[in-house]
Amino acid sequence: MRTTVILNLKGGVAKTATAVNLAAILASDYKKTVLLVDADSQCNATEFFGGDPVKGGLADALRHDGDGGPFAAASIQASNFPGVDLLCGSEDLMDLDLTKVELQSVRATVLREMVQRPAVRERYDYCIVDCPPAFNAASTAALIAADDVIIPIKLDAFALRGMGNLMRQIANMRKINPSLQLSGCLPTMWYNSPLIVEAEKTLGASGLPMYPHIRRTNKVDAMTFAQEPLLLTSPRSAAGIDYREFVREYIERGN
Ligand SMILES: Nc1ncnc2c1ncn2[C@@H]1O[C@H](COP(=O)(O)OP(=O)(O)OP(=O)(O)O)[C@@H](O)[C@H]1O
Ligand SMILES: [Mg+2]
Repeated sequence: MRTTVILNLKGGVAKTATAVNLAAILASDYKKTVLLVDADSQCNATEFFGGDPVKGGLADALRHDGDGGPFAAASIQASNFPGVDLLCGSEDLMDLDLTKVELQSVRATVLREMVQRPAVRERYDYCIVDCPPAFNAASTAALIAADDVIIPIKLDAFALRGMGNLMRQIANMRKINPSLQLSGCLPTMWYNSPLIVEAEKTLGASGLPMYPHIRRTNKVDAMTFAQEPLLLTSPRSAAGIDYREFVREYIERGN
């Protein structure tokens, strides 16, 4: 099983759009089994795939006294998309970050324990974690568990300036998880303008691994209303085509 975290400290850069389309394409086109972990208190991925946080989720596991790995594994539920199971997010994930006291009581290794369990490793080919736009208890737990990270980036000057900070955070996590890899930066909401093309070149020239961009299209907003991935709602849209190309490369870069 390969565990990939979709991370950026910036909000609204298509982390969730990437996580849900990646999960759906792996399951549907490649017949892979996918566990999608929603590490965001906004619960967008959970809602998208029809998860029910009342049945348990990541927040409970992070707060669980004792052996949280089996507890997290037992909280996995089926989604409404064949081949994709869910470990739900919930609003409680936000409470976890409110106080330092709470943070100290969080077991940051809980996701690593879960993905290392033979029952989970054998059941799923991929575990995809949709992170919040923050470096908090849930994203830390995700990075401790991960094999690799994908960074969706909406190309603008703010995003490029924020990359240094993000890279330092990832480098810091390697003290706890030395095998953590950066799979690549994924430019999202791309459109053809000299500034965007230049920004993409600048990012590529910085030496970071890159994925081919995902083009901007209003079909992605439509997908969130339909609560179905692009391969069902708009497979021939620019983003629908680009996400399939991205997933092909993602699999090739696998470990
Ligand atoms: N390729 C695209 N073209 C146009 N709009 C897009 C594209 N990808 C994502 N969007 C839109 O951008 C918005 C943000 O996307 P999304 O919720 O996936 O970002 P996020 O990084 O998960 O946000 P957050 O940080 O709040 O979790 C949504 O309205 C989504 O529909
Ligand atoms: Mg999101």
